[in-house]
Amino acid sequence: MPLVRLEQVTKDYLSDGVAVRALDGVSLEAECGQFVALVGRSGCGKTTLLNLAGAMDFPTSGRVLLDGVCTSELNDAGLTEVRRRKVGFIFQFFQLLPTLTAVENVELPLLLAGQAAARRRALECLRWVEMEELAGRYPHQLSGGQLQRVAIARAIVHAPSLLLADEPIGNLDTASGDIVLELLRRTASELKTTILMATHSAEAAAAANTVVRLRDGRIEEIRRP
Ligand SMILES: Nc1ncnc2c1ncn2[C@@H]1O[C@H](COP(=O)(O)OP(=O)(O)OP(=O)(O)O)[C@@H](O)[C@H]1O
Ligand SMILES: [Mg+2]
Repeated sequence: MPLVRLEQVTKDYLSDGVAVRALDGVSLEAECGQFVALVGRSGCGKTTLLNLAGAMDFPTSGRVLLDGVCTSELNDAGLTEVRRRKVGFIFQFFQLLPTLTAVENVELPLLLAGQAAARRRALECLRWVEMEELAGRYPHQLSGGQLQRVAIARAIVHAPSLLLADEPIGNLDTASGDIVLELLRRTASELKTTILMATHSAEAAAAANTVVRLRDGRIEEIRRP
């Protein structure tokens, strides 16, 4: 069974009373450990697809199945559970809390979920992204590449089966971007995390094992390099 499955998904947004079709009949599957890059020009629907896959939003028609469960059929408690346990997000601008150190940022999701041994697990994840030595630093004391590595640690701290990455190297230089891409690649292959990554970068797409090209809300091409 695929971890994520989109079946004939359509998504309309209402903008000033007019429906904008962001996704138009998208069907797609991703297995455990698959690293999928979503490419295509601005406005083609990449972020919309990530939000639907992570149960942050719901299709207008069609179905999104996460671990075999249709996201539109979950109640509030079910949704909270899925988002808390199964999904992690990373973003272009990292979105770490500036008043917390690296390790405090990483452990926060566990503390909010009332989980024990949060600090130990947070340090383990910082080790995975090779940031353990800088665990006590605040975000303003870290480089862009280091911030994104901390953000990856935070996103995987609850061992999600799905990691969603929206332009994760969009704000990084080539060298830092390469380190982040290699980390994502290893996270997919070694931790068996499924990754969906929206990107404008050909280099980022090349790190993935499947490249899905969207155009005007439709899948134009699926490539497995
Ligand atoms: N909340 C919203 N309300 C109305 N329209 C929206 C909303 N979010 C997205 N859209 C529209 O849906 C379409 C797809 O947007 P989306 O953000 O998914 O594109 P994208 O591929 O991520 O673009 P980019 O590469 O610029 O990030 C666009 O036409 C956009 O204007
Ligand atoms: Mg986007």
